[in-house]
Amino acid sequence: MQIPNYEKARRRSHEEVLVRDFEMNANYSKLGLNKKYYLKTYGCQMNEHDSENIKGMLDKMSFKETLDMKDADVILLNTCSIRENAHNKAFGMLGRIKHLKNEKKDLIVGLCGCMAQEVGVVEEILKKYKFVNFVFGTHNLDDLPKLLANSFKDSKLNVEVYSMEGDIVENMPVTRVSKYKAYVNIIYGCDKFCTYCIVPYTRGKQRSRHKEDIIKEVKELVRDGYQEVTLLGQNVNAYGKDLYDDYELADLLVDVAKTNIPRIRFLTSHPWDFSEKLIEVIKNYDNILNFVHLPVQSGSNRILKLMGRRYTRESYKELYDKLRSIPNISITTDIIVGFPGETEEDFNDTLDLVNYCKYDSAFTFIYSPRENTPASRLEDKVPLEEKEQRLYKLNELINKYSKESNLKMVGNTYLVLCEGYSTKEGMLFGYTETNKLVNFKGSIDAIGKIVKVKILDAKSFSLDGEIVE
Ligand code: SAH
Ligand code: SF4
Ligand code: F3S
Repeated sequence: MQIPNYEKARRRSHEEVLVRDFEMNANYSKLGLNKKYYLKTYGCQMNEHDSENIKGMLDKMSFKETLDMKDADVILLNTCSIRENAHNKAFGMLGRIKHLKNEKKDLIVGLCGCMAQEVGVVEEILKKYKFVNFVFGTHNLDDLPKLLANSFKDSKLNVEVYSMEGDIVENMPVTRVSKYKAYVNIIYGCDKFCTYCIVPYTRGKQRSRHKEDIIKEVKELVRDGYQEVTLLGQNVNAYGKDLYDDYELADLLVDVAKTNIPRIRFLTSHPWDFSEKLIEVIKNYDNILNFVHLPVQSGSNRILKLMGRRYTRESYKELYDKLRSIPNISITTDIIVGFPGETEEDFNDTLDLVNYCKYDSAFTFIYSPRENTPASRLEDKVPLEEKEQRLYKLNELINKYSKESNLKMVGNTYLVLCEGYSTKEGMLFGYTETNKLVNFKGSIDAIGKIVKVKILDAKSFSLDGEIVE
């Protein structure tokens, strides 16, 4: 039993991070024969990719996936802590699973991901959800085979959560969702400690993967026919800082571009670490796509300071203008409304900045207090209704600009990576280089290929088009 501790989670050790290869006890490889697992994933791309590793491990243990929870022998929840609603969804799910477990006593239930790193969550599971078999955190994903194997022998709840990051584990088994586009981690953890955010506590200190390991992974993806990679990190712009004196994200992007993978994206960029060199590299390489997700969070300098974001609206605008000067670039953002003490004037500063930037699109959120974060201790007098109104108003503005930027594309032809059938009947779907969703008519031969699509119609969240030869 190992339970999380925030003191330790906050610590940033200067010890070298070790890199080791994934290993699994050979006895586990038949454990899942004739057994099915159901995996539910919440949260960001990082968690989605962790789930691809989880599936990889379960496949290696001979389990089969089921999409029907009632049919499963093992249920795993890969959870997210970022806002209260992600939390509530996972606990709601545990409630449903409890009923299943009453009917099926040998059902095995595991919980992992960011919520497992929260002290309050683990306490609640120990008190109220004792039917759970095991809990493990983001720092010991590779312990899954062992924990699962043990829970077949002993049904008592086992919590194995480490508060401090461990080694970087290379060559984890992976079962990717897509055959055409892939996530590749480049940096784990976050050292920014924005005052509202729980991630630095749930994901540990910033640790870059060695460039050779990243490039090897991308080369294998090219060999397997992948068309696109997204390089992942909570703050990809910090890549290399903990590892090299003279090698940063821009250099990594150049090396990845040289593998000739047709499309490269990277997520997420913190405005504070965005280098001139990176701007040049985006400009100069065709396969580094013209798309930047650049979260601003707020347009008010007072709030940015309280958030600990380390930039001002002026310096953000300066960076934004430089990026906008790259032809056909698309820029998106994240914005939080209702940070503790946000006044009408602060909020108007945010609207004003959105009017200036005219983002291609944005994710917008109402501030959600997170356990143990500095912002959760600030006084917050703004009523929820007021916050909801601000969110509504902000979304109207964001949608207006999304639609405007989409309308500009009508009549033109763009390269789209076709991913499969659209939810719209008889249509295919894919994304442009600038990450715009397109539903289009065309033959199924297009699936998995980069095709030319003429845009015929634009909405706020998607485009309609047809393949042209
Ligand atoms: N590392 C990324 C984003 C991580 S979380 C970055 O720094 O940009 C994704 C988004 O969730 C954040 O950009 C922020 O807008 C939002 N978010 C994070 N913590 C939040 C909180 N406590 N309440 C509401 N939104 C939050
Ligand atoms: Fe959270 Fe800030 Fe780190 Fe992003 S940069 S993960 S918002 S602490
Ligand atoms: Fe959520 Fe953890 Fe990602 S808190 S957003 S799953 S890093």
